[in-house]
Amino acid sequence: MTRLVVVSNRVTVPTDNDVRAGGLAVAVQDALAQRGGIWFGWSGKAIQKADPEPHITKVGSVTYATLDLSRTQYHAYYNGFANRTLWPLFHYRIGLMSFSKREFACYREVNELFAAKLVPLLHEDDTLWVHDYHLILLGEELRKRGLQRPMGFFLHTPFPAAEIFTVLPQHEELARALCAYDLVGFQTDRDLRSFLDYIVHEAGGGIMGDHLIHAFGRTLRVEIFPIGIDTELYEKAGAMAEDSEAVQQSKRDLGDLSCVVGVDRLDYSKGLVERFQAFECLLVNYPELRRKTTLLQIAPPSRSEVPEYKEIRRHLEGEAGRINGQYAELDWIPINYLSRSYNREELAGIYRMSKIGLVTSLRDGMNLVAKEYVAVQNPEDPGVLVLSRFAGAAGELEAALIVNPYDSEGVADAIARGLAMPLEERQERWKAMIEVLRTNTLMKWRDSFIESLNEAPFE
Ligand code: UDP
Ligand code: G6P
Repeated sequence: MTRLVVVSNRVTVPTDNDVRAGGLAVAVQDALAQRGGIWFGWSGKAIQKADPEPHITKVGSVTYATLDLSRTQYHAYYNGFANRTLWPLFHYRIGLMSFSKREFACYREVNELFAAKLVPLLHEDDTLWVHDYHLILLGEELRKRGLQRPMGFFLHTPFPAAEIFTVLPQHEELARALCAYDLVGFQTDRDLRSFLDYIVHEAGGGIMGDHLIHAFGRTLRVEIFPIGIDTELYEKAGAMAEDSEAVQQSKRDLGDLSCVVGVDRLDYSKGLVERFQAFECLLVNYPELRRKTTLLQIAPPSRSEVPEYKEIRRHLEGEAGRINGQYAELDWIPINYLSRSYNREELAGIYRMSKIGLVTSLRDGMNLVAKEYVAVQNPEDPGVLVLSRFAGAAGELEAALIVNPYDSEGVADAIARGLAMPLEERQERWKAMIEVLRTNTLMKWRDSFIESLNEAPFE
């Protein structure tokens, strides 16, 4: 087995003791821990005089190599081109997008820096796997430095429709760079179709069959690999959480109240304002559920120096205050909004005691929270997942109550239906979903990507 080298912007070094919310970090951590290898990326530090060499920490079979960024790089690359240009663009929010040549130049500079510092750490036959929208140019930069070996790239976010992607002035540079990899993986069929549409109709490339395409003078493989979770681990965590004192106490505190839970980074792509409004709609259209239901929203702040994230936080806090002010009673608060993060064990307990898992993303690459919620349920008395049709997970979790997050009344109806759903139907739906999760695990995601990459080169 060759050594696995994973590169991503966000790296979670376990010794940091940091509960870092985010699907990529959770997934890569789990995927690497079992196989061992190197995880290379940003240290999370932005300092005036950045140390030019990677910091190396070894924990178990994983070596973590992390680089600091300068304040300028942090602002122009991370807050700027990655999170004010690519993130909104890839989530279909062109109204929230801003771009500048200077920030794009800095994005390239950081991709170059990663390439320059990674090359000396590589062995001849390493399997190289690059993750996410921050590092689209990395493969091309590594090729410029003479690296010929197979390289894979996986996009954790959606890939937008060609009409949206071409709004970006640098669309061609990014598409060309994606084609410098040997394997490009997407979450869903919808993302792959959008990319192929761009390749054929904008880039003049061709589809050659058997997942191969030819574009920008190269032949590469493009495939879907829907990311999964370590299902067995979550099933065990759910069973253990049931007996924990914290869950027992929370259940006693809830009494007859049914808990509807949402767990999301505080991000405009998650449809949080729309979710609060749908919950308000539930209180209006189903007044008998007042004082019987509560929405528990966990939303750890994310990318808080980006203005659009400051704005969504302000807006959400305003909506929580308004709705609670209008509907709360002395002994009941409709929305319990917690702006901090929780670890896996704590989340397992919270998911398990909640009758409804509510995911209303306006766009989402996959949404691991939806999968985690299902995996930790009590098979004898499972809760109901209400899931946005615009989350990648909806392609697999068809037995959830699938909703349109823009339709507040529809979401309210689905919550009410879930709360009243007979045990037998809940069990049937849960069985169908856990079956999918036990098949499409995180390990399958990792192994099938690596297996496909190991067949390269495809020239
Ligand atoms: N998460 C966490 N603690 C929190 C909130 C979220 O560990 O307080 C984790 C959550 O369990 C999930 C990940 O962060 O594994 C979020 O992934 P998802 O795919 O749902 O969304 P993303 O944040 O990647 O957009
Ligand atoms: C999403 C992205 C990841 C990112 C995570 C957390 O999952 O796909 O690349 O790491 O959000 O965001 P952050 O900006 O804190 O790394």
